[in-house]
Amino acid sequence: MAAAAAKQPDPRGSFLGTPATAPGPDGRAMLRAFGSIRRDPLAYLASTWRSYGDIVQFPIPRPPSYLVSDPDAVRRVLVGNARAYGKSTIQYRALSLVTGEGLLVADTEPWRRQRRLVQPAFHHETLEAIAGHTAVALRRMFDGWDALPPGSVTDVDASMMHAALEVVGHALFGTDLSADAQRLASATLSALEVVIARARVPLTPPAWLPTPNNRKLARSVRSLDGAVARMLAERRARRDEVPADMLDLLLASRDESGQGLSRQEVRDQVVTFIVAGHETVASALSWSWALIAGHPDAQTRLQEEADAVLGGRLPGFSDYERLPYARAVLDEALRLFPPAWLVTRSAREADVLAGADIPAGALIILSPWIVHRQPSAWGDPVEFRPERFLGASVDRSSFIPFGAGPRMCIGRDFAYVEGALMLAAIAGRYELSYPPGCGLPHAEPQVTIRPVGGLPLRVRRR
Ligand code: HEM
Repeated sequence: MAAAAAKQPDPRGSFLGTPATAPGPDGRAMLRAFGSIRRDPLAYLASTWRSYGDIVQFPIPRPPSYLVSDPDAVRRVLVGNARAYGKSTIQYRALSLVTGEGLLVADTEPWRRQRRLVQPAFHHETLEAIAGHTAVALRRMFDGWDALPPGSVTDVDASMMHAALEVVGHALFGTDLSADAQRLASATLSALEVVIARARVPLTPPAWLPTPNNRKLARSVRSLDGAVARMLAERRARRDEVPADMLDLLLASRDESGQGLSRQEVRDQVVTFIVAGHETVASALSWSWALIAGHPDAQTRLQEEADAVLGGRLPGFSDYERLPYARAVLDEALRLFPPAWLVTRSAREADVLAGADIPAGALIILSPWIVHRQPSAWGDPVEFRPERFLGASVDRSSFIPFGAGPRMCIGRDFAYVEGALMLAAIAGRYELSYPPGCGLPHAEPQVTIRPVGGLPLRVRRR
């Protein structure tokens, strides 16, 4: 889509003193669209982009708000001029009610320091361990599926959610399956639910008001904090042992001056990893299956690769490099249904994006959902074609499921290893198909893009 003629005077003039610097809907059009924004935010985003172009300004005075979809402008925000854009946005502030100032929401210096200290928890041995945890989760899933009567339909989305929680839980806490580890995961997820519910109400009561939702949030955060505190105390008691999982690695990490993460910082990272590493991976896997089940040729190719590499056994880390098609399927699902469907930034200073003047303080909304549908970068953008990721020709600058630049996802390789091994192992053992009359579920954007009604598929042992 051509960049909009943003420098022309905008007939909308200004919104309560904030000048219009890019095309977009006026206040009345926005009010009329309110119902469709709530019903189908993805369709609204896409139609706004189609109507107004690659830089859209919403009629909101504070903060001035822009939807930026021009690939070069997106790269400028995330990579080229990244230091001019911070994370102090409504989206990240809401998340911080649960994650505290963990890596995902921290900004500037605290973020830089944390990123250095957290990086060792994602090193090569962690990826190897993730392959092992994935195999354990697969074993349990297979036992469940094998116990179903032949021809059963099962909710594959629920299976993916369960497996992904198991993998991130094991990666963080190893085989420490104490009640606290489980309490921590479930308290994190229930706190997250409240945060999503808050985001859906235009006027959210402040967090200190004792509304039922705020009380639930406070309860979950208390339970979460208690579980982390007990786990940390336990770990300190066996401090001299070799680090066995990501929590040990976080506790052992030191910067050049010998300083480690504080207790609060460790707590915030642990919660961040559960929030950032559970539903994202599950969503990518569910949409992979939703797409594969509707594309028998792709399923056959995935099965052939799985048969050749795994020959029916559970996968290990060394298989990962030999599963390019499984990874291409994952990439194509991440392109069409990017779990992180919105990435936001706050402009620290004035900038110019694709010809439009962006004032300091502006909210920048980037949507991988739209960038991944840019016709200039992707031929037949809405078609499921994993093959496009097998060649060298793919335009990776328009592929941002994990973000880009300094704030790029730290768990990307974690997600690829887990995702590709899961896809291959499942394809090696089962054929998945839609029951008669069913097809691709409707996509509902929450924290990630969720399939409405789950993903009921027929699971047949091959
Ligand atoms: C398919 C799975 C995943 C997707 C699609 C995904 C997506 C993303 C995206 C888009 C960002 C950048 C956000 C921004 O720029 O504002 C991000 C950051 C992050 N992700 Fe992921 N993620 C995935 C898996 C994981 C996993 C498995 C973990 C950890 C266990 C993780 C931990 C993080 C953290 C800590 C950050 C913040 C990094 C920083 O700012 O330094 N993610 N992720």
